Amino acid sequence: MVVSVLVLVLGCVAPEASVEPSSARDSAPQPATPDSGRAPPPAVPLPLDAVDLDPADDVVHVELVADEATFTIGDLQVQGYAYNGQVPGPTIRARRGDTIVVELVNQLDVDTTIHWHGLHVPWAMDGVTWMSAPVAPGERFTYTFELDQAGTYWYHPHFDTQHQVDAGLYGAFVVLDPDDPPVDRDLVFVFDSWLEADDPHAHHGIDGADLEWTANGAAGGALALAAGEVVRARLLNASNTGYLDLRWDDIRHVGSDQGLRSALGTPDRLLLAPGDRADVEWLVGAEFSVLNHPYSLAGGVALGGPELVLSIASDGGPAPDGAAWPFDGAPPSPDPGHADIVYVLQGDPLEDAWFINGEQFPEVTIAEVDLDEDIVIEVRNLSASEHPFHLHGHAFEVLSRDEVPVTEREVEDNINVPIQGSLRLAVRADNPGDWMTHCHVLPHADGGMMTVLRVGEPSEP
Ligand code: C2O
Ligand code: CU
Repeated sequence: MVVSVLVLVLGCVAPEASVEPSSARDSAPQPATPDSGRAPPPAVPLPLDAVDLDPADDVVHVELVADEATFTIGDLQVQGYAYNGQVPGPTIRARRGDTIVVELVNQLDVDTTIHWHGLHVPWAMDGVTWMSAPVAPGERFTYTFELDQAGTYWYHPHFDTQHQVDAGLYGAFVVLDPDDPPVDRDLVFVFDSWLEADDPHAHHGIDGADLEWTANGAAGGALALAAGEVVRARLLNASNTGYLDLRWDDIRHVGSDQGLRSALGTPDRLLLAPGDRADVEWLVGAEFSVLNHPYSLAGGVALGGPELVLSIASDGGPAPDGAAWPFDGAPPSPDPGHADIVYVLQGDPLEDAWFINGEQFPEVTIAEVDLDEDIVIEVRNLSASEHPFHLHGHAFEVLSRDEVPVTEREVEDNINVPIQGSLRLAVRADNPGDWMTHCHVLPHADGGMMTVLRVGEPSEP
């Protein structure tokens, strides 16, 4: 069992943020309830260092060294992998319009790559090994591309993905929009799940109750903020298989996978499937807790009680309204009621064999569309598991769920498809190349639930 040693980890902390020291407990696991009277967490080094942005320089350079690493989750020692010795890897920050230059240094003894999840990169920079070679041990590769989007993205290997991401290779990639309203604090929380077992890499069961969640590498972290601050927090679910079903009071959901939403969302829960991001915002008032409810990808609610994943303390005061965000109020595009491409998801959980249209990657039929064609993709889930559907190199707009048109514009690159559910998604195929499209439950992708969408003329990357 993972013992709930409490550590505090936070992203991008400004000097006035307070971190209360305390002694770590090494007793039996404590029930994770918001009122369990936990001791304040000890201070630990901040893992999510931001790249300093030079206002005069629109080229951002980052070096990411992939290497083996030993780190701790609770009292568990994990023999894993890390970028620059930290899990999560460094948060990359840049502005829309900047050019990013990332030097990957592979110090692992296996091949690896980096994929830029959600970003519209040129195909040759996408980090997939469909037609290009991975980066061999001891080698380097320079990824470079221009950022024409703003929002919360992430990066991870796309080679032996299930294993390498699970081992700790992932990080957040924040693209700031110069037009976004200013906030006092722009935080990143990267969530991952670990099995409460001696082998943290053992396959997760479909029951969500056996997972221990960490935010920025820490279980049950706490963060103290000054009342009156406007905080934007970027949440990323980097888990291979675990769904986050987060609840807290007065959530203001301001951004999804592809930047700001068209309208403010005030949901009573936030479901983040593997690969999903959500930006939330609040004006710091009274303290509050973020709870995660066990969630099974075999159909939702699972056994077990909620787990405290984060608590936010403040120096008091009522919670006033948050900052005004410049939502554009754009209505959703109409659902034409039919699709150009249909992906049917099926699988055999016992065999870990997963199919799109009856095929298993890499033995797949390539769907082809013209460059700059507007297409509709329909995804139908006929399996006994939920699947987060992800498309590389493009964003998509959700048109309908189960044939019912959505009422609010939603632009994503990763979206959960419930059991027996169907989604219609609009895609402008404006990025030429052979793009992977797959389930982001990584054992499902590695088990075959991945195919290729070819945009434009086929060519070598
Ligand atoms: Cu986040 Cu093909 O992956
Ligand atoms: Cu899946």
